[in-house]
Formats: sequence, C-alpha cells, structure tokens
Amino acid sequence: MYVAIMGYGVVGSGVAELFDKNHESIVKKSTQSQLELKYILDLRDFPGDANEKLIIKDFNLILNDPDVGIVVETMGGLHPAYDYVLACLKAGKSVVTSNKELVASKGYELLKTATEKNVNFLFEASVGGGIPIIRPISQCLAANEINEIVGILNGTTNFILTMMIENSMSFQDALKLAQDNGYAEKDPTADIEGLDACRKICILASLCFGKHVYPESVFTQGISKINLEDVEYAESWGGVIKLIGRAVKLSDDKISAMVSPCIVQKHSQLAGVDDVFNAILVRGDAIGDVVFYGRGAGKMPTASAVVADVIDCAKHVETKKLFGWDDSEAGYVSDYLDDKTALYIRAKVENRALAIDAAQKVFGEIKLLNREKESAQELAFVTPVATERELLTRLETLHAIEPLSVIRISDY
Ligand code: HSE
Repeated sequence: MYVAIMGYGVVGSGVAELFDKNHESIVKKSTQSQLELKYILDLRDFPGDANEKLIIKDFNLILNDPDVGIVVETMGGLHPAYDYVLACLKAGKSVVTSNKELVASKGYELLKTATEKNVNFLFEASVGGGIPIIRPISQCLAANEINEIVGILNGTTNFILTMMIENSMSFQDALKLAQDNGYAEKDPTADIEGLDACRKICILASLCFGKHVYPESVFTQGISKINLEDVEYAESWGGVIKLIGRAVKLSDDKISAMVSPCIVQKHSQLAGVDDVFNAILVRGDAIGDVVFYGRGAGKMPTASAVVADVIDCAKHVETKKLFGWDDSEAGYVSDYLDDKTALYIRAKVENRALAIDAAQKVFGEIKLLNREKESAQELAFVTPVATERELLTRLETLHAIEPLSVIRISDY
C-alpha cells in the first residue's frame, strides 16, 4: 500500500521524517506487507531534501493513482485542503489530517462521505498535537456519557502566557519567541485570537456530544489584550490567566461552548499546565474526571499522531472505524451571556474611594485586588457570580469607572 502527503511544511515534513525513521516497525504495526511513501504534494521546491524525488505539484497524480490508499493532509487552511480531501474520500482513499480548521468546519460532511465510501477519515493530530484524545474519547471512554470538556488547547498562547507570568515578558516579546520556536500558526492571529482553540473545542464537543459544533457559533476571545497588569492582579487573587476552551452539554439539543482567557485558581489541575503543553479534562459519568496532558504543538509530537492514524488506516482497509457525529440545528450552542461566571474587572478611576463605593452598590460584595506599583487611578476587583448578561448590564450603569480589562473567573 502507498501513502501520499499533501503539504510539506512543519507537520508534513515531520510525518515523512518519522515514517522514514521508524519505517520497519510502522510497516509491521500496519499489518500490511509494505507501506511506502509515494508522493509529497507541495507547490514549493525542496532542492537537496531527502524526499526531493517524491515532490509533485499536481494533485491529480495522487487522486488518480489507485495504488495510493492513504492520503495525509497537512496543508492547513480550508481551501484547497477541503476540496482535495473530499475528492480523495470520494475516490475511495482513506484520509488522515492534522487540519483542525478543516475538521471543525467540514467534519460532519467529510465523516459522512468517508462512511458512504467505506474508508476512514482520521484526525487525531487535529486536537492536542501529540496527545492521544480523539481515540480515547471515541473508544476508551465510549461507555460514558460525557457532559463536559474543558482544556488548554493552544500551545502558542499557553507559552506566551507562561512567559508573561513567569518572566514578566511583554505579550509582543513572548509572541516573537513562540514564533521563533515554531509553535505559532502561519498567521498567529489564529492562535492569539483564540480561533485555533475554538476549532479544537468544536471538534471535541462534536465528538463528545454527537452533533457538529460549528466554530461561528462559539463565542471566542483571545489573549491579545491581556497585559502584565492583569497577570499581576490575577496572581494577587491566587490565580493565573489561561486561555480556556470549554463545552458543556445542557440537553440533547443544547450545549454551551466558549473560548476565552480565564483566571484559573492556582490549585486547579489546569493552572500548572505551562509552556507549550496542553491539557484536556473530560468529565464522564462513569469515570469522573480524566485529564490528558502533553505537548500540544510542534513538529514531531504532531507527526506522531498523524503517523499513528496512518497505521490505523492501513490496519482497517475496507473497515470503517465507527465514529462520527450528526449535523446540528441553528441555535444548538446557547448564548454565552446566559452562562454564569464571576468577572475580574480592571478599570481606570478618578477617585478610588468613590469608585469602590459605587462598585459595591452595583455588584454587592466585590473582592478588591492589589498589585505592587498600582496607581491611585487604578482599581481591580472580582464580582460575585451571576449570568454574564447581568454582570455586564450592571457594569454599564457604573459610571464611576472606565473598564480597561474584563476577564472571566474559571470555576476549574
Ligand atoms: N498553533 C497551534 C498551537 C499548533 O500553538 O497549539 C497546534 O495545533
């Protein structure tokens, strides 16, 4: 059996490297007599590369080659990745992808096509990089009703926040370091504005709750507005700021889902997840809480998950691995403003004493926060728990302060 890779970037080249490095044991585990890399599709040239001879520029060579049974998609983005993957599945080839944008947007349709064609569409690497999470949810935890899933799903932002918390590094310097280390997406907006984490929570929620969760329906906020003052106030409260993705099943027809920076208590299982590491907590009715932890980004951890899927495809020729989900109706994801939370608010004030008095009148019992070097024109506090709609409505009536930063307090 032959394998083709579409996209020879960081992940694609990692796949080729791992495939070559562990080739003998990979073939053995695949139960095929042979499993060879035949094509690598990429528009760029790679002179002197170990796989230079395999590089092609015409997708049709892969599509029309009956010997290619498994296609790896590591191109990223929606187009042409979606068009190529759909064509491969329709041609009866199994597809393995690390592309979360593709799975989050088109997963329902692609899984349905794979089922119709009796081939596999596997995407272990799309969430959590090298952390096994898709297969454990769909297989090992299959006996459970899963009602909640929450996690740190983006390595780049977790790395940036860790640098800000531990080294007092500015957001921009930490982002640059993350890019230099190869963690960030091509366009770092997807990482820092939470889109990448949103795609991942959509995939996890679709898998756990059985209906496709579309990224557009999930309220998403990134970390680009978090600054060192917020980090210091969070510390004084006894927490750390993390970018959290969360999905909760409310009923068979309704879930809540959100991605946003949250202040997490230091004793939380998620608070100690630092650097590029990801952690995903799954709450099952039989098993309780299970936490999956590991490297959520990077060339070889991600390649590890892709190659494992290739082996699985090779082992299951003409057998569809049974997982997938239904489509969902509009309104499946509830309005995030109905979720209950406490809010951290940092504001500019004219008169601190008057502002504190006004905030107490509006919110009731607030917890005042302090940091070193805070100015007399600065106020930070945490509100009581209420729906976000209620808290924001109250905040609008509070004219004694000018909010600079509002961050949710996580109950994990
Ligand atoms: N840019 C992503 C991250 C890569 O930082 O988590 C893995 O999906």
